[in-house]
Amino acid sequence: LGNGLALTPQMGWNDWNAFGCNVSEALVKQTADIIVSSGMKDAGYQYVNIDDCWMTGSRDGGGNLVPDPAKFPDGISGTAAYVHGKGLKLGIYESAGTATCAGYPGSLNHEQADANSFAAWGVDYLKYDNCNNQGISAQTRYTAMRNALANTGRPIVYSLCNWGQESVWTWGAGVGNSWRTTGDISANYTSMLSIFHSNVSLAQYAGPGGWNDPDMLEVGNGMSFTEDRSELSLWAEMAAPLISGTDLRSATPATLSLYTNKDVVAVDQDSLGKQGTEIASAGGADVLAKPLANGDVAVVLFNENASAQTISTTASAIGISSASSYTLNNLWSHVLTSTTGTISASVPGHGSVMYRVSHGSGSSTGTTHPLIGASSNR
Ligand code: DGJ
Repeated sequence: LGNGLALTPQMGWNDWNAFGCNVSEALVKQTADIIVSSGMKDAGYQYVNIDDCWMTGSRDGGGNLVPDPAKFPDGISGTAAYVHGKGLKLGIYESAGTATCAGYPGSLNHEQADANSFAAWGVDYLKYDNCNNQGISAQTRYTAMRNALANTGRPIVYSLCNWGQESVWTWGAGVGNSWRTTGDISANYTSMLSIFHSNVSLAQYAGPGGWNDPDMLEVGNGMSFTEDRSELSLWAEMAAPLISGTDLRSATPATLSLYTNKDVVAVDQDSLGKQGTEIASAGGADVLAKPLANGDVAVVLFNENASAQTISTTASAIGISSASSYTLNNLWSHVLTSTTGTISASVPGHGSVMYRVSHGSGSSTGTTHPLIGASSNR
C-alpha cells in the first residue's frame, strides 16, 4: 500500500498467540517495558499490538467502539501514550465483519467512525480480521477500511487478516501493508512447516509497502529451540512481518537471543525488499536464497526431516555474482568461513543453517568475528 509505511516488514509483538482473549492495559505496558529492556527495541521491534477482546460488547450511544474499562482503565489512548513514551508504537485489532471472531462489535459499515476512533486514540497499526463478513467480497470490505484510514490523515500500518482467501496476494499490495496468506499458526512444527510451504511460493507478490504474512511468530511458545530458530530463519528469509506472539515477560534468555539476532533481523529488513525463494527442495532438504541490497545473498539450508542431513548448494545456484572466493557468515553461530563456491552444512533435524554470502574473504556485514578457515561448516 502506497501509504509510505512498512517499506520493510513490520516488527513487533501481539498478544493473541500467548494470551487469547486475556489482553489488558497492564499486559501491554509490561510488554512495552520488556521490549525496551530486553534489547528487542534496539533490534527493531516497534509495534506493540492488541488483538481481539479489547472492547465492550456494544457501541456507545454515538455509535463508537468502547474500550473495556476493566481491561483498559486508561483507555486505548492512555495505553498508547504509555507505549509512545517508550519510543514504541501501538497497534489494535478489528474485524471486517459485523462482529470480531470473539463476538465483539465489528467495523463493517462503521469503517470511518472506527478509523476516526483509532486515529484519535493515537493508534499506529490496525490488524483487520475477517470474521462475520456476511459473504461480502474481501476486496470490497478491506478497501473500505483502507480509505477510512487514509481519511484520518494519521499514518497507520494496515495489516490484512483474511487468511489467504480470495487470493489476497494478487490484490493485497493495493489495499494493505501486509496480508495473511494462511489460516492461524499454532505452536508446533507441523503447523509452522505447512504455513512455510504455503507462503514461500508467493515471493513475486511481496515488496516494500506490501508483504506476505505467514502469521505471528511462535518462537518461545513450545517448539524446540532448533525449531524456533528455523521459524525465525525462514520468516526472515521470506521478508515476513516479525511479530512475536510469546509472553516476553517470562521469555528465556535463549528465546530472547533468537528474537534479538540483529544479523537475522537485517536479512528480514533488507532495503531491497525481496522475499527469498526456494531454489531447491528434495528429500526434505530445502535451499532458500534472498538477494540483498548490497549484492550479498542470504541463504537458508532447512532440514524438514527429523534426523540430521547435509544440505548443499553453490554460489552460482544462489545467484550471487561470480567471484573467485566467497565469505559465508553463519548468522546464528557468527562463524565466518570462506569457499570457492560450495555452500554446505550438516543441518540438525527440523533445523536451519543461515548464511549471509558475500564476495571475497572479508565480511560486508559489519560483524567483527575473525575468519577462522574453511573447515567449519556449522
Ligand atoms: C483470527 C486471526 O487469524 C487470529 O490471528 C486472531 O486475530 C483471532 N482471529 C482473534 O479472534
